[in-house]
This record gives sequence, C-alpha cells and structure tokens, in this order.
Amino acid sequence: MLELRDVRVVFDGFAALDGVDLTVPEGELRFLIGPNGAGKTTLIDVITGLTRPASGTVRFEGRDLAGHKEHQIVRLGVGRTFQTSVVFEELTVLENLDLAASFRRPLWSLARRRKGVSDAVAEALERTGLQELAERSAGVLSHGQRQWLEIGMLLAQRPRLLLLDEPVAGMARDERERTGELLTRIADDHTVIVVEHDMEFLRRHASAVTVLHEGRVLVEGAVEQVSADPRVQEVYLGRRTDAVGK
Ligand SMILES: Nc1ncnc2c1ncn2[C@@H]1O[C@H](COP(=O)(O)OP(=O)(O)OP(=O)(O)O)[C@@H](O)[C@H]1O
Ligand SMILES: [Mg+2]
Repeated sequence: MLELRDVRVVFDGFAALDGVDLTVPEGELRFLIGPNGAGKTTLIDVITGLTRPASGTVRFEGRDLAGHKEHQIVRLGVGRTFQTSVVFEELTVLENLDLAASFRRPLWSLARRRKGVSDAVAEALERTGLQELAERSAGVLSHGQRQWLEIGMLLAQRPRLLLLDEPVAGMARDERERTGELLTRIADDHTVIVVEHDMEFLRRHASAVTVLHEGRVLVEGAVEQVSADPRVQEVYLGRRTDAVGK
C-alpha cells in the first residue's frame, strides 16, 4: 500500500530524514514512534506532499507520488491530521464534517444546494460516535471530542490510507482508551499510520511499530519485540536496563 525507499529530507543542510525505508501493507495499523525531532511529522509531510524529499521515492498503491500536489494526494486516497487542530470552532460538528467531505467532491456539485447528509458524513459521524453532538458548535467540544471530529473529518474524505499525528496527545485516560478502540475499528477497512510517543498506549493498541531516531528507522517489528529492544530503551531512557516505560 505504502512504500518509501531511501527517503531523504534536508532543511538548511540538516537531514530531518536520512535514508528512510518504510513498507506498510494494506490494512495495517502501524505505530510510528520516536523522540522529539526524530522526523515523525516530516515523514507524514513527505507522504502527503507538504514537503518534498531531496531524494528517494514514495509510492502509494504502486504510484510514485513525486510531483503530486497535496490536494492531488488527498484525491488519490491519502488523508492526514495535523499536530495542531484544523477544526472550525464557529461551525457545528456536522458542518465541519460536511466541509471536509466536500474536498473530494467536484466543484459543480458544491455549487448545487445539497439536501440532507451525505453517506460519507453519516458514516463518519457514526464511526466516531459523534451523532449526539452533530448540531453542537465545534468550539464547545472537549479536547477528546475535537480529536475524534478531526478523525471524522478525515474519514469523510474517504481515504484508504490515514496518517494521524499524535491523536491522543493531551487526552485523559478514558479518552485515550476510546481513541485506541476507534483506531482499531478504523483499521478494519483502512490502512492507518499513527504517530504516538506513549509506550503504554502502544502496548495496548499497537501491533506493528516503527521507531524513528535522528531521521532514520532504528527498529521495526511487533510491539513486544520493539519495546524490549535495548536500542529503543537507550533512545527513550538513555540507559540500557529495564523495559521501556517501567
Ligand atoms: N520546516 C522545517 N524547517 C527546518 N527544520 C525543520 C522543519 N521541519 C522540521 N524540522 C526539523 O527536522 C527535525 C524533525 O522534525 P519533526 O517535526 O519531523 O520531528 P517529530 O519527530 O515530529 O518531533 P515531535 O515529536 O516533536 O513532533 C527536527 O530537528 C526539526 O527541528
Ligand atoms: Mg511531530
């Protein structure tokens, strides 16, 4: 589904990504972890066309994404969230979803007055459990509900690959738990890449994990194997003893 080969991203002579290879098969829920500045967001930026790699290739469903603009990549079926919110606070939950869905619609259909709620929007509401809040203004949502709305806005665009940048950051424990379950359900019929720092969350919800460190893939594999890896412990804790997060 997604294949990066030898991807290098350079900012002012500094290699934020330094020869990254990454293969994500269809239907996987892949976690991407690594310390601050490891290059996680840059990796998402490269896949979604926000940042151009200096060298290397990004292929999505066999298609080389080089030269594709951000909006074209969205149309090809790749959706992302940002580390900062893109929700319109003065619009309702439903209006935000509808607006997000409209990115996939041709212009002429936007100009026509539409009746009711589109299938994509109804599905996104249901998936994220936000039906009850559909008519509330997004500005009054809790932090967790707002994150679910952002995920819903992505789903409304009907992507096949979703890239989520720290969706549980700042969430309370029960909200994290609900988000973990939501991600697992979404991965039933999507490919999902989730950036997350929290090892506890990972242990509960991840299957496959890729660890980035200083712009390179440090370790990749099953969550138990990765969290027990001395190199990962070194990067996170600066020491070689004890399991990560304990
Ligand atoms: N537009 C930019 N211009 C210059 N340097 C950048 C730019 N974007 C990222 N960087 C640098 O590239 C490196 C990787 O940044 P990136 O945001 O990808 O890290 P990250 O793993 O997402 O970190 P965090 O956990 O803090 O979100 C950092 O050293 C960062 O300062
Ligand atoms: Mg980041």
